[in-house]
Amino acid sequence: MPPHDTKEVKVGVLGATGTVGQRFILLLSQHPYFVIHALGASSRSAGKRYSQAVTWKQTSPVPAAVRNLVVNECKPEFFKDCGVVFSGLDSDVAGDIESAFRIAELIVFSNAKNYRRDPHVPLIVPLVNSSHFAMVPQQRALHSPPLKNGFILTNANCSTTGVVVPLAALEKAFGPLESCMITTMQAISGAGYPGIPSLDIMDNVVPYISGEEEKIEWETLKILGGIADDGDNGLKAFDMHGKHPLRISASCNRVPVIEGHTECVSVRFARRPPPSPQQVREALAAYTSDAYALGCPSAPRHTIFVHEEADRPQPRLDRDYQMGAGVSVGRVRQCRVLDIKFVVLANNVAIGAATSSILNAELAVLKGYIPSHST
Ligand SMILES: NC(=O)c1ccc[n+]([C@@H]2O[C@H](COP(=O)([O-])OP(=O)(O)OC[C@H]3O[C@@H](n4cnc5c(N)ncnc54)[C@H](OP(=O)(O)O)[C@@H]3O)[C@@H](O)[C@H]2O)c1
Repeated sequence: MPPHDTKEVKVGVLGATGTVGQRFILLLSQHPYFVIHALGASSRSAGKRYSQAVTWKQTSPVPAAVRNLVVNECKPEFFKDCGVVFSGLDSDVAGDIESAFRIAELIVFSNAKNYRRDPHVPLIVPLVNSSHFAMVPQQRALHSPPLKNGFILTNANCSTTGVVVPLAALEKAFGPLESCMITTMQAISGAGYPGIPSLDIMDNVVPYISGEEEKIEWETLKILGGIADDGDNGLKAFDMHGKHPLRISASCNRVPVIEGHTECVSVRFARRPPPSPQQVREALAAYTSDAYALGCPSAPRHTIFVHEEADRPQPRLDRDYQMGAGVSVGRVRQCRVLDIKFVVLANNVAIGAATSSILNAELAVLKGYIPSHST
């Protein structure tokens, strides 16, 4: 990985007091060039020092650099000096707030679902589809009024993120997939804080997470698909994997795990005969991301760690590997219905949320999308 010589970039965090926001604070407080400059949350928190506003749920203390920062309301005027704004906002409010920040020529990296389906907003899992940054100029140009710097870029739903990484590795090695079945066992931190009541989740599995199955089935196509000409108008569009239709069926469950989403995945390849389990293991282990190759400091060295043990990955043992920035896969074996099945584990608050946003912002710096006056 090449060394970076990037100057400091001031950053803001919206939703800084929430589950994802706290992970942003932890990661950014150790970042080599992003420097926390402004924090935002609801009017309940605004005006308080961060340490008073937050219900801190991390295993290390509130970083000294932010403890006394005063939390603001999520208004662009408080973030105007920020080269990058990270958003861990509740989706009930993220739409309007992120839009106001974009109009104010700010660059927003969002975890919320609101703009993931926007035809001009890239939905980027940084270990998979950094090429979708190519849609940023079109988003700026088609905005009314056109923008010089501002744009919104989102990362994916936390379960989508875990599964698209091995799927991308398999398509890169063996060509298009035809179908995919996914069953998730999702941690309770995925629902934010305080989230699901303890009496509903202890000693229990809840076989429903509102909207989650549709997100996995739709977002995966946008992420794994390419960018194509949108008719003869000179515009580009996400092709939604349209050249090789991919059928995906997801079933989502909430389980009494605090952090780390586990997913059981079966896939069918277009190519016949399909690869063997050993070929699949080798392809997964060999997969490297653009984020790592380009030198993003937060990129995991091993994009996918392939376990040989029969009983791994497990959330408690594997969620913090590489600070939760990579994805763990195990139990790669033949599927009697489709071709190959395996188990994926991804840390929902790290690569499933804050780490993805930070990696996307690092890619934006490397690709020249962060204006130089903010450094
Ligand atoms: N948790 C995950 O694993 C995960 C993974 C991927 C994506 N996401 C997405 O990331 C976002 C945040 O999730 P979370 O789990 O961190 O939620 P959370 O713990 O409920 O935190 C929500 C944050 O939004 C702020 N907020 C709420 N209402 C607001 C308002 N009216 N104006 C300004 N700020 C407001 C809260 O501030 P106060 O403290 O002041 O109320 C808090 O900082 C959601 O869109 C979620 O879908 C979450």
